[in-house]
Amino acid sequence: MKGIILAGGSGSRLSPSTDSISKHLLAVYDKPMIYYPLSVLMLGGITDIMIITTPEDKPRFKDLLGDGSSLGINLNYLEQSDPNGIPEAFILAEDFIGKDDVTLILGDNIFYGQGFTTLFRKALENHRNATIFGYRVKDAHRFGVAEFDHNQKVISLEEKPEQPKSDFAVTGLYIYDYRAVQIAKQLPYSARGELEITDLNKEYLKGSQLDVQLLGRGFAWMDAGTHESLFEASEFVKITQQRQGFKIACLEEIAYYMGYMSQKALKEKGRAMEKTDYGKYLLEIADRKHTEQYWESIDRNPMLGLVENE
Ligand code: DAU
Repeated sequence: MKGIILAGGSGSRLSPSTDSISKHLLAVYDKPMIYYPLSVLMLGGITDIMIITTPEDKPRFKDLLGDGSSLGINLNYLEQSDPNGIPEAFILAEDFIGKDDVTLILGDNIFYGQGFTTLFRKALENHRNATIFGYRVKDAHRFGVAEFDHNQKVISLEEKPEQPKSDFAVTGLYIYDYRAVQIAKQLPYSARGELEITDLNKEYLKGSQLDVQLLGRGFAWMDAGTHESLFEASEFVKITQQRQGFKIACLEEIAYYMGYMSQKALKEKGRAMEKTDYGKYLLEIADRKHTEQYWESIDRNPMLGLVENE
């Protein structure tokens, strides 16, 4: 399974904050926005990841994340010169995808909740053709909207409809087989001049090849594409982290629990940033006692949001 993070776009809705930098590098509370979608792919066990961004921002992403080796993953970068739409990711990454399945996550999407990792891993495991994730929202008209029947079979999909047929938004996390590349190439441009991910999903829907996985009330899903939603996301992360003492989307923590990063490397990274809360947190994790005794296997590790019997 390959992973793609789409982190290009114009970011115009966040101007002037994004006039000279990608919104995906802005902080969501205490870490760059891109950490959140990257953490999702890592939690799913996806290690071969392409980050697609603008030519101007590519060096900045590389500065921040490098080739991923310090996190035990493999990061590559591609440029999207114009925001021609989400499905363009597959056309740009055609060689990278090859004949593999691919998970796409939008760079401004944040997922959090007990059991999310389990649910996502199961979706990856059971995946055939195409899988999308639905989430109930109060303002469905802002998103792609999925209507489905009692058996959770999708009946219709619409992009930002004025009169949504359901309250379920299609989140920015999608799993496809490699055919997504050829389908993307044949999509028409929409009225707003973009290739639409909803149109790609509709192609799978036509062949009854689209599964939807619903995220229930225990999950948080946010996209941080406007000033309001960016602020709300920061507030959510701050409050949740302060209450529980766990960080959301701490990449080194995930790499450590996944077995991609050694305790020694974690300590070194923590020491190098010891003056920050983030650095102190890494040191705290490295020193956490009983980790191995308590959590016999990674699948029982609540630090990663994995739960049994779901
Ligand atoms: O967040 C989920 C929603 O994302 C879905 O419900 C919609 O169906 C989907 O169209 C998309 O809607 P948005 O209006 O939020 O898309 P936006 O143009 O804001 O782009 C979402 C992310 O993708 C953002 O991080 C920028 C990036 N992007 C977008 C486009 C169009 C690119 O990197 N390149 C692009 O060409």
